[in-house]
Amino acid sequence: NSVENGTVTWESPSNIALIKYWGKRDLQIPENPSISFTLSECKTITKLTYTKKNDTKDFSFDVFLDGDKKDDFKPKIETFFKRIEVYVPFLKDYHFTIETKNTFPHSSGIASSASGMSALALCLMRIERLFNSEMSNTFFNQKTSFLARLGSGSACRSIEGNLIVWGATKSIENSSDLFGIKYPYKVHDNFKNYQDTILLIDKGEKQVSSTVGHQLMHGHPFAKERFAQAHDNMETLKPILETGDLNAFINLMESEALTLHAMMMTSNPYFILMKPNTLEVINRIWKFRTETGLHIGFTLDAGANVHILYPQSEKAQILEFIENELVAYCKNGEYICDQIGLGANQI
Ligand code: PMV
Repeated sequence: NSVENGTVTWESPSNIALIKYWGKRDLQIPENPSISFTLSECKTITKLTYTKKNDTKDFSFDVFLDGDKKDDFKPKIETFFKRIEVYVPFLKDYHFTIETKNTFPHSSGIASSASGMSALALCLMRIERLFNSEMSNTFFNQKTSFLARLGSGSACRSIEGNLIVWGATKSIENSSDLFGIKYPYKVHDNFKNYQDTILLIDKGEKQVSSTVGHQLMHGHPFAKERFAQAHDNMETLKPILETGDLNAFINLMESEALTLHAMMMTSNPYFILMKPNTLEVINRIWKFRTETGLHIGFTLDAGANVHILYPQSEKAQILEFIENELVAYCKNGEYICDQIGLGANQI
């Protein structure tokens, strides 16, 4: 065929789960449904250069982060390529140069796997589209999400905005374990431009990877109840999103975050990813909320950082509180102001 070589660049955002994915089986099939806000500012930008090679024996690629060759990224990408080869059969026909950078500080404890794997999946699907120019945008997004899932589960929620559901559950029509879908129901204007200020509490390498964390849900004493609860929470969230009930939203979101960490603390081996400053920040948020009645709430990923979520209408007061009282708990005073976003873009 005529596709000899070329370059494609995509930027793809991170996302923050409101109902958490924790536990998987088989090939990246989630044990429970999850839903996330797509972010806007925290992105990976990946440039993929492809050059036709003479043989089709092995995968051939190099990876660069911020211009530096990163051979330690190769095994993860090799695994990804092996998993998706049947769906994008051209992978062994080319040598790939993958040049990637993140808009958020390196090793900030912000997961780059969702933005990174989705950006790579998007670049590969752009090549796939050259062989199949009839492909609809809907199919493109769905298949990209499907591929991204095979790189990192939560990456399948980063292709589109601004509220994405992953995992089959009866209260969400057309939800699937195989790819993320746009949340299909009414969302109240209270959630328009919803803010996420991310406090970087601890920048160190996580002691326990999310891969290991997911595995520890096998045989976990509370797994069955937790998975059932996530389905129930998806159902509970629907009227909350529709009516814009921010107090109920915060209650559900914070409960989900603490449940995620409770699962870590009650697995065997058990572990704790929160740091003392994570708890200090949580307590200060609760105190400030009681005192002011403002709609400030938090969620956590698999790490010590705190995502502070709040409506745009309360931004001035809440940001002032964050800057005056919470930034002191951040490593080097670092935090990131982000908000709900629309998804990935080709550049
Ligand atoms: O995509 P993974 O395998 O890194 O898992 C991410 C899991 C959480 O971030 C903790 C929750 C979620 O739903 O994003």
